[in-house]
Amino acid sequence: MLQGKKILLGITGSIAAYKSIFLVRLLVTKGADVRIVITPSAKDFVSAITLATLSKNKVVIQLADEDTWANHVMLGRWADVMLIAPLSCNSLAKMAHGICDNLLLACYLSATCPVVVAPAMDEDMWHHPTAKKNIELLKTFGNSVIPVAKGELASGLFGEGRMAEPEEIVTYLEERYFRKNDLIGKKALVTAGPTYEAIDPVRFIGNHSSGKMGIALAEALYMHGAEVELVCGAINTTIIYRGINVTHVTTAEEMYSACVSYFPASDIAIMTAAVADYKPAIAAPQKIKKTEDSFKLELVKTKDILKALGSLKKDKQLLVGFALETNNEKENTLKKLKEKNADMIVLNSMNDAEAGFGKETNKVTIFDKAMIEYSFEVKSKKLVAKDIVDLLIKKVNDEA
Ligand code: CTP
Repeated sequence: MLQGKKILLGITGSIAAYKSIFLVRLLVTKGADVRIVITPSAKDFVSAITLATLSKNKVVIQLADEDTWANHVMLGRWADVMLIAPLSCNSLAKMAHGICDNLLLACYLSATCPVVVAPAMDEDMWHHPTAKKNIELLKTFGNSVIPVAKGELASGLFGEGRMAEPEEIVTYLEERYFRKNDLIGKKALVTAGPTYEAIDPVRFIGNHSSGKMGIALAEALYMHGAEVELVCGAINTTIIYRGINVTHVTTAEEMYSACVSYFPASDIAIMTAAVADYKPAIAAPQKIKKTEDSFKLELVKTKDILKALGSLKKDKQLLVGFALETNNEKENTLKKLKEKNADMIVLNSMNDAEAGFGKETNKVTIFDKAMIEYSFEVKSKKLVAKDIVDLLIKKVNDEA
């Protein structure tokens, strides 16, 4: 999402400036074109040569350098976003009151692009009424403020005022300014992760699904502009974008109810979850004691969510299922496609050591209603999600 985006990074005098080095690295890795302007006091915390090497661009500090004048107006106009991270208490006050005594402030005052700040200061300064007032003033000028974090501070105290981590700052920029619009106005429903079916209050039937594939899909749909409802079972993976609506469920029955309620308003639904096919006929109300030598558990079928949505599906809705097969892969997948009235089924490979449950990578083949088969190489789950979403965007456009 940041490929080719122009980011003007301002760094002010704060101990958190050491994190700017990682921030530059991350932005550059994501393909952003990064230009850096620092205040004279930021030089006490981070060196211009490190920043210039990482960003591959000269770092600018002064308004005038012997015989050259740094064109702050053009820098402010060049950028897609100006990000000031860290923003010290002193620079915050200057920005709030229009003071222009260094190049960074001149760039800020002449920026025509959105300006985002990531403040960093000690807790007492952060809670001082002037800092609060100055933050509010910045917001009223239309600037965005990335919330500070709570944690260990340079003073040795523990509290609020830490600059957000570089990964959070990058996610904030991506989510706020660089979402695409191919799926704008579309609603998507995605399921992810395992379901747990209770045997008794302490035991359950579950599986090893990590939910990573479903989350990658939810994130890809969201970053293409869709409004996303993610219904997920027990997962440990963090969902990085705040704008994705998440419904946490435990059982197949709960997942079914959530999906049936969201589906009528959805344009796209992708069922990635590893839903238990069977559940105990009765969940024992007390912990089952180890009294017998053998133990029989009666299982009954759960509701098939994909099939239920297939029977509710209206003309313009796109329904996608996943399949995991150990034999007759193609035949079984095509059978699933038909029986569940899906528009596409994504077949997970069971024949590749780098693909599957809990792994970072996956290898898929997609079958659609027209019996067209799309094969892909092993790749990260994020890139698999991109392939699936690209295909969906094409189908959405074909139907429009
Ligand atoms: N699925 C579902 N509800 C269930 C079981 C599965 O919605 N109770 C969905 C999965 O999320 C997946 C698709 O159905 O998108 C296929 O799941 P899979 O386990 O491969 O197949 P099943 O339909 O369960 O059939 P079988 O286990 O016999 O292959």
